[in-house]
Amino acid sequence: MISFCGIALAHPIVNGSGTFDAIAARRAFGDALLDDFPFAAFVSKTVTLAPRQGNPPPRLWELGAGMINSIGLPNKGLAGFVAEDLPRLAELRVPLIVNVMGSTPEEVARLVAAFAERDEVAALELNVSCPNVKTGLLMGADPGETAALLDAVRPRSDKPLIVKLTPNCASPAAVAAAAEAHGADAVSLVNTLRGMAIHPRRTGEPWLGGSTGGVSGPAIRAVALAQVREVRERVRLPIVGMGGVQRGRHARDLLDAGADIVAVGTESFRDPRAGARVAAELEEMGANSGIAGTPLPTGRRRISQRA
Ligand SMILES: Cc1cc2nc3c(=O)[nH]c(=O)nc-3n(C[C@H](O)[C@H](O)[C@H](O)COP(=O)(O)O)c2cc1C
Repeated sequence: MISFCGIALAHPIVNGSGTFDAIAARRAFGDALLDDFPFAAFVSKTVTLAPRQGNPPPRLWELGAGMINSIGLPNKGLAGFVAEDLPRLAELRVPLIVNVMGSTPEEVARLVAAFAERDEVAALELNVSCPNVKTGLLMGADPGETAALLDAVRPRSDKPLIVKLTPNCASPAAVAAAAEAHGADAVSLVNTLRGMAIHPRRTGEPWLGGSTGGVSGPAIRAVALAQVREVRERVRLPIVGMGGVQRGRHARDLLDAGADIVAVGTESFRDPRAGARVAAELEEMGANSGIAGTPLPTGRRRISQRA
């Protein structure tokens, strides 16, 4: 067992929001899914106040090393999620983390407040990859915006608040520092990197219905490593590291770069058991290599070791 923000986890692997549909998986695999859930905690897809349709199709473009999605955060909205999804997700035998997003700090505060007294919910993840409709600035791209968001949200709940950082900004580390100074309990990174694909038959036209989308998978693994390391150098908060994890080695690298736990995202589309597999590979590596507790040669000190 490990502890993350006071939440007991059986191992350090969780899912990336929006990349594993636990309700659909339960329909497909039945109660066997509950007995042998691939992740140590379940992170919901982003929930918004009002229902959203998402972006027009096409919504996916496959890359040589990952994909671009422009799903556009379709969801039932807060009321639909609480009435229909929350009771089902509460049946999972792992802690539940609900991911929320709003277009103003007040909207996010309302979402956070709605889960404050819900015992089924262990923590909240704030998806800040959204413009503040009042200022036009991305809430997670500007340290001042992030500070204002935390100031609005923090008083509304005692539950751990995890700020999901966007890589599409000048300095995720500066945003993480603002989140830490204004009461966040953890940060998670990376969200997808903005990208686009050109239609193969219509010159110059975007392929995706949303025009641009988010790049994920192995293509972004090196970016994730660099950003996790940079954030670790700025903050003491626990970090959920993610981006292109396919194997235990990739999770190990993120942990060594400074993450406390790791999320598996795109890989779950190829292998729904990826979370459990990565956790097992990681454990085997630890047992076989003596990595845990072994000092690394000078110059390669694990930067996750804090003063
Ligand atoms: C199809 C898809 C849907 C996603 N939906 C969400 C979402 O609803 N909320 C969110 O915060 N991140 C969402 N993400 C981002 C992932 O949680 C994760 O941050 C990102 O994909 C990087 O990890 P990976 O390379 O392992 O996929 C989504 C990613 C994909 C590929």
